[in-house]
Amino acid sequence: MNYRHHYHAGNYADVFKHALLRQLVAAMQRKEKGFLYLDTHAGRGGYDLSTTTMLPDGRERAPEWPAGIGRLWDAANLPASLAVYVAAVKEFNARRTGAGCELHYYPGSPWIVQAALRPQDRAALCELREDDAEALDIAFGREVRVKVHAMDGYVALKAMLPPPEKRALVLIDPPFESAAEFADIRMGLRDALQRFPSGVYAIWYPITERAKSDRFIAEIAASPFAPPTVCAELQIAGDSAEVRMKGCGLLVLNPPWRIDEEFRAVLPALVEKLQLDAGASARVSWPVPER
Ligand SMILES: C[S@@+](CC[C@H](N)C(=O)[O-])C[C@H]1O[C@@H](n2cnc3c(N)ncnc32)[C@H](O)[C@@H]1O
Repeated sequence: MNYRHHYHAGNYADVFKHALLRQLVAAMQRKEKGFLYLDTHAGRGGYDLSTTTMLPDGRERAPEWPAGIGRLWDAANLPASLAVYVAAVKEFNARRTGAGCELHYYPGSPWIVQAALRPQDRAALCELREDDAEALDIAFGREVRVKVHAMDGYVALKAMLPPPEKRALVLIDPPFESAAEFADIRMGLRDALQRFPSGVYAIWYPITERAKSDRFIAEIAASPFAPPTVCAELQIAGDSAEVRMKGCGLLVLNPPWRIDEEFRAVLPALVEKLQLDAGASARVSWPVPER
């Protein structure tokens, strides 16, 4: 448990994940009936971008957010749903610093979703690190529609599904510190789909080695339990670039209707704003097509 999301808050992967997450929430809300948002790996909910961190050799670690949200902060003419996401980040920042202030605070997935919840929706936020779970409690303790659980998110997939509402959006966003994380996700999904086959499951994953993430997607798609599944990927640099994490993806099982079109509407702008070199690209595919 060495992973601290603080180092990465607001980077290109957060921008991609949170922009698409906001689209998923809006798609869930096309129906009047409420739903459960289950965040299995919630983090601490918000991050102070002005605090610096040190590398083992004593040098200051370069922050990642300038190449992420920093590139969208003042951008004009963004696609509508990307502008909605940037406005949500600005609102979070303004609550902590005052309206119109420079970017200092970046919201995590719990806040990105909580800010959009309707009275009939609710959220369950799971975080294994006690200090981060405490921070979530402080941030959301007074929200009646939000419950914080200091627990293993994979256990929550068994304990909290199916929800009484019979509708859920589940975000699985683990730290990928361990080589077993892809296998853990597959096991967690297998249990979750057995208990609650109609849930919408969104899984964020890094693209460090293309073969690894492609194998993960192929294995999910080959499962006898696999429902229709759409995949959106953003690569910020070409395969030969020196950067370790060249891209990331979001795999969505049981995707809301036409979410693929909505993803396609924002990905070109994300490529344009977040690219590191001319090898940047994005794609939307259907590992398991709709029937
Ligand atoms: C990538 S971060 C989450 C970021 C957050 N979803 C967001 O978008 O703002 C992963 C988090 O999972 C937590 N974590 C690690 N293993 C966990 C587990 N088995 N169950 C729940 N949380 C876990 C880590 O402490 C870390 O805060």
